[in-house]
Amino acid sequence: MTGALPRVVLTRPVPPGAFSRLCEKTAPEVWMEPTTIPPAELRRRAADAVGLLVVSGERVDEELLAAAPELRVVSTMSVGYDHVDVSALTARGLPLGNTPGVLTEATADLAFALLLAVARRLVEARDAVLTGRWGGWDPEFLLGRELAGSTLGIVGLGRIGAAVARRALAFGMEVLASTTRTPELEGIEVVELPSLLERSEFVSLHVALTPATHHLIGARELATMRRDAILINTARGGVVDQVALAAALRDGTIAAAGLDVAEVEPVPPDDELLRLDNCLVLPHVGSATRATREKMAELAVENLIAGVNGEPLVHCVNAAALGAPRPA
Ligand code: DGY
Repeated sequence: MTGALPRVVLTRPVPPGAFSRLCEKTAPEVWMEPTTIPPAELRRRAADAVGLLVVSGERVDEELLAAAPELRVVSTMSVGYDHVDVSALTARGLPLGNTPGVLTEATADLAFALLLAVARRLVEARDAVLTGRWGGWDPEFLLGRELAGSTLGIVGLGRIGAAVARRALAFGMEVLASTTRTPELEGIEVVELPSLLERSEFVSLHVALTPATHHLIGARELATMRRDAILINTARGGVVDQVALAAALRDGTIAAAGLDVAEVEPVPPDDELLRLDNCLVLPHVGSATRATREKMAELAVENLIAGVNGEPLVHCVNAAALGAPRPA
């Protein structure tokens, strides 16, 4: 139909500013249910769409792409893209947009909030107040761990890892990092992963999930950590072998963990990690501030509009795919 706006599919509503912008350029169809869109329903909706906007954890695979032959672009409202089969997109000449940079500070804040919450036993403290176990000031009550002077090991010193490092240095911590993409951050000692795990009282994970980082922290690695170590994961659940972690927390191999991500999200209610007092699990809220989510949505929408129009994306994961011939 002449003049009709191109049809795009969103698997979640986005904030109003980004949505208005999208409506100027496209005709969006949005999944409005609070639950994740079922894959079959997404395939049905994507069948004649030219653009697709997804969020973290929603699988974009060959089956979906095959069901959506009109697609020109996939945009994910996330920096991570382990839920997307990038090679399948690239093979079809489809660009994938993501949202790096805008969520760095919010995610680093959350990593640090988790670290403090676990170190100072905030959930236990709140439970004590609510259940009448607050018996007055007691020198031995709910003793936690001190950050100043202790060592934080950062696994993956990219944007978010570096932002966590800056916070840790401001708290007077010694900072180790196992890998570095960020050149020269003063005050950080770069070491190999085994040394970092052996030396750190706190370990915070900031690597993307790839085949190389899948279960990077498993039973063997946990066994080399200090018995008083606290593990923080705001990266991806799959970076940690969760069964091994539950065992390590149960038998005291390490002291505690704070997780914002899990191998299966939402975490099944019968998962052992949810029953362990020394494990605090959050529902993947690293980037969940209003300001950050607005910026992520704006970027995801700009990527989507650019891709629909055949223009370069603001942030393209597989730039090599741009200009590649579309399959016949
Ligand atoms: C990301 O952007 O990858 C986050 O995990 C989503 O908040």
